[in-house]
Amino acid sequence: MKNKHLISPMDFSKEELNGIFELAEKIISNPKEFSHICDGQILATLFYEPSTRTRFSFEAAMMRLGGKILGFSEPNSTSSAKGETLADTIRMVSIYSDIIAMRHPKEGSAKVASMYSSVPVINAGDGGHQHPTQTLTDLLTIKSQKGTLEGHKIGLCGDLKNGRTVQSLIAAMSRYEGTEFVLISPKELVIPEYIREEVLKRNNISFKEVENIEEVIDELDILYMTRIQKERFFNEEEYLRLKDSYILDNEKMAKAKEDMIVMHPLPRVNEIATEVDDDKRAVYFKQAEYGMYVRMALIVKLLGVM
Ligand code: CP
Repeated sequence: MKNKHLISPMDFSKEELNGIFELAEKIISNPKEFSHICDGQILATLFYEPSTRTRFSFEAAMMRLGGKILGFSEPNSTSSAKGETLADTIRMVSIYSDIIAMRHPKEGSAKVASMYSSVPVINAGDGGHQHPTQTLTDLLTIKSQKGTLEGHKIGLCGDLKNGRTVQSLIAAMSRYEGTEFVLISPKELVIPEYIREEVLKRNNISFKEVENIEEVIDELDILYMTRIQKERFFNEEEYLRLKDSYILDNEKMAKAKEDMIVMHPLPRVNEIATEVDDDKRAVYFKQAEYGMYVRMALIVKLLGVM
C-alpha cells in the first residue's frame, strides 16, 4: 500500500482494508509502541471546507505517531485566494510534506490533486461525492462493535441524496456477504440513481426504500443516522421544510433490537435527540474515536513506515 492514494473507499481491496483494521486494533491496544513510528514525517492537512472530526483526528493521528503537521483550515489565508490553481498548490505542498489529507467542496478534486502530487493524497471529503476515511471509520466501528462485517441489515436514514458518507458506506459494505440495506429518506432526498443501479442492483444487494423510520427500526442491526446537508441545498425553504424529517429519540429506540447499534458520522444537528446519548446502543462518539485510530493505521500503511 506504500505510496497509494486513497480517493474512493473502493481503492483498497478487502485484504488491504483488513490489514488497516488489524493495525488499528494493535494501535488501540498498545499506542505507545507506535508513538515514534512517524518521527521526521510531515502530514499536510488542506481543508477547503469546514471540519472538526476529520481534520483534528488526522492531525492528532500524525502527532500520536511522532510526526508533524502543516496545513490550513481557511483557504482564504493561502494563495488560492489570489487565484492559484489546485494543481499548483498540490505541487508545492507535496514538496513540503510526505502525505496529504485534503477536503474540498468540488466532486473529483481529490482525484485531480492525486494527479499532481508526488506523495500520497487522502480524500478527506470531495463535495457530495466520497469520504473514504469516514468509511474506514465506519467499517472499523461495525467490526469492533458487532464482531464481523458480514450479515448485517443496515438502515441508512436522512439525506441520502447529498450524504457522501452513506454513498461511500453503501459501496464498501456491498462487498461483504449478507449485507442488506434499508434506505430511509424523504422522497426529495432519496439515494442517487447511480448508487441504486450501479452499486446495489449490479451487485444483487438486497435493499428497500421507505420514508418512515418507525416501520423498519425493529428489523435493523445497525441504524446509521445522517444530518440533512444544509450546505448542499440551493433553496433555503426546501431545507427548512426537510431539516427535521427524522428525530431519533428514546421512544423510537424502545422499538429497536437490544443489540442494534446507532451510528452517525457527526456533526449532528437535530436528528438524534441528546437523550439517546445515554443509551448503550449509541456508539457515535466511540465511532469518532475509532476514526483517529484508523487514520493512524492508514498513515502508517501509506507511508510504508512498517
Ligand atoms: N464526520 C465528519 O466528516 O465530520 P467533520 O465534518 O467534522 O470532519
